[in-house]
Amino acid sequence: MQQDPITDIDRRAFIASLGGAAAVAAMSSEAKADALEDHQNAMLNKSSEKFPTKAELEAEVDTMPYRRGVGNLWIARKGNVKRLRPMPEAPTLLDYFRLRFGEVSNHVLQSANRAMKTGMSEEVILACLLHDTVQQIVKVDHGWWGAQMYAPYLSEKATFAIRYHQALRFYDDPAHGYKYPDLYRRLFGEDYKPEPYIDATYKYVRAHKWYQEPRLVTVNDLYAFEPGVNPKIEQFTDIIGRNFKQPKDGLGFDNSPSAHMWRTLAMPDHPL
Ligand SMILES: [Fe+2]
Ligand SMILES: [Fe+2]
Repeated sequence: MQQDPITDIDRRAFIASLGGAAAVAAMSSEAKADALEDHQNAMLNKSSEKFPTKAELEAEVDTMPYRRGVGNLWIARKGNVKRLRPMPEAPTLLDYFRLRFGEVSNHVLQSANRAMKTGMSEEVILACLLHDTVQQIVKVDHGWWGAQMYAPYLSEKATFAIRYHQALRFYDDPAHGYKYPDLYRRLFGEDYKPEPYIDATYKYVRAHKWYQEPRLVTVNDLYAFEPGVNPKIEQFTDIIGRNFKQPKDGLGFDNSPSAHMWRTLAMPDHPL
């Protein structure tokens, strides 16, 4: 008989996979719900998962009260959204990690930790650390949104890695050990073909001298919830200090071209 992935979860293995009981206790309820969903999906995966088609996913659009590209900050998976703690004056990147990046921070910390452990460059480690954080605001085209948000504060190469990791996720690269993930079959449909703008972007990046940087972000992108690994932002303080141009007036208040994006993260409850 096939296991029911929802009722037959091995609780101990699940908690261990998140880094132990203390790590689970420190997670928000949204993060726990996400982790549980990932775990259930992984189990489904093992039991010869049938992926949806693109048409089946499109048919779900008008069955939901929100769109699939909505940023994490705007919606609660269960119940109501939580009150956010206020940001300090002149907030730093670390403040955003601690106070606003809730739902994606574990995933990006895991990615950066893997990049660090495998001896990748500081630019790649930093790009991994930041690559999905803009998904707190918006998920659609998050590579481009993220690169725009970070461009004033990073090297061009690290910004390039953030912008283009999104497009490279759709294309195998056996030389780097990257394979199109089942997650994308689940999210986009098994018969999904990337739109022409993604295809053109892939071709551009594939031929670029900096191809390796966004590709290495995708190589590290698959290791969310590595068993027993629970990295903290403090592990990356030195790399941030050397590579991230923290504005003295604070992110959001420095009049940079992306300051409004940081203010949106800081104050998402403002009605206008
Ligand atoms: Fe991403
Ligand atoms: Fe990611």
